[in-house]
Amino acid sequence: MMTRSYIWPLGNRISHVLMIVLFAAAYLSGDSDELLRYHVIFGIVFAILILFRIGWGLFGPNYSKFRDFDLSLTNLKSYLVSVFTKHEKYVGHNPASSFAIITMIIVSILAIFSGLLDYGVSENHGVFAFLHQGNYEDMEIFEELHEVLVNIFLGIVLVHIAGSLMDKFVQKGDAVDSMISGFKSTPTYIGISTNVAQKAYQVLWIVIALASLVYLFGFKDNLLTVNYNKPTDYAKVNPAFYNECGSCHIAYPPYLLPKASWVKMMDNLENHFGDDASLDEQTKAVILDFLVKNSSDSSTHQDAIKIRKSLEGEKQTIIAISQTPFWKAKHKDIDSRVFKSNKVKSKANCQACHIDIEKGMLENDLIKMPKGV
Ligand code: HEC
Ligand code: HEC
Repeated sequence: MMTRSYIWPLGNRISHVLMIVLFAAAYLSGDSDELLRYHVIFGIVFAILILFRIGWGLFGPNYSKFRDFDLSLTNLKSYLVSVFTKHEKYVGHNPASSFAIITMIIVSILAIFSGLLDYGVSENHGVFAFLHQGNYEDMEIFEELHEVLVNIFLGIVLVHIAGSLMDKFVQKGDAVDSMISGFKSTPTYIGISTNVAQKAYQVLWIVIALASLVYLFGFKDNLLTVNYNKPTDYAKVNPAFYNECGSCHIAYPPYLLPKASWVKMMDNLENHFGDDASLDEQTKAVILDFLVKNSSDSSTHQDAIKIRKSLEGEKQTIIAISQTPFWKAKHKDIDSRVFKSNKVKSKANCQACHIDIEKGMLENDLIKMPKGV
């Protein structure tokens, strides 16, 4: 006769589901610039769940406590060797999932930490934005580290899923079901009960995670995702530039081209993309000086650095932002019909999609693709 023992309390089970959803959401939004802020939020809330899980591992009930994890390499080996042949019953975590969970906790914390560092260093957002002042070129390391760690995490997740499916379908175990119901079948009742403090802890665990999700989404200026790139009022900073260079098209932020490009462009305003944009010598000198001083060569903006880098191998001096390799790479997935559509008209009409570009803001969450094109 078997009985059903209560092994996994609600906190474990709800956070488990939330972590699956958050990881999937973070993974899927990771490649899109437009969704970067959401990606970061999913990661942060995931970290909150993990931190609570660590506390739970220290002060939680039996089976959930790290002390009850089977972290013996000998046991892991014999478990893996015998996994196809004999079905040993584990009430708590078997050696493989014990190792998997500990590794997932460590790797995910490091992954989220490196992601936040990258968010600060390259995007000038969040708690690590103070590092943005440094040299981004040397600090792409965080982006790479983040990717490696996420892929390691994904690898463990896949093995963990494979193991769970095997438990369910090959060994006919109840590990997967128990993560939903909380119960496992055991010869005698060996279930757990939680005390008041542990009950309160579980409520906080889930409530704080969900509340942070709502808070971070709703309040853009929160400490963790706040944007320190501030808009520039070019009309005030340099009226000559704003008025002259913003009359036929938007006033392109000077940090989007290197000094050499601005010099070449300003040298030939009579024939400016087929238009005559010539200026009197004095105005021209004022504008050129402004463009050169604020060019990509002297900007810490990540797009400035990436544009500059992408131009390094070019033989000719490119004078259109939309002709730079970085720009082309970033927009290669956009259908050329979109650029020709009535709402956009030209690649050079950045403002159709980057709503605050005239204030120098190329933020990912300020990208709004025009509807219906
Ligand atoms: C008489 C109109 C006119 C004036 C004035 C003018 N431009 Fe232009 N500019 C154009 C046209 C037309 C294009 C090509 C736009 C296109 O490709 O759709 C262009 C393109 C550009 C581009 C390239 C955009 C891209 O594709 O990346 C830059 C940069 C630029 N202008 C800078 C300036 C600057 C700086 C000034 C001021 C000194 C200026 N323009 C003044 C008409 C003008
Ligand atoms: C039809 C809409 C559209 C137009 C027009 C457009 N962009 Fe973009 N741009 C996008 C989208 C969408 C992305 C994000 C691509 C991605 O997710 O990787 C993007 C990305 C970028 C990025 C990279 C942002 C980052 O931090 O990763 C830069 C820089 C940029 N655009 C500059 C420009 C400039 C300058 C112009 C005008 C010369 C322009 N774009 C015109 C839609 C547009």
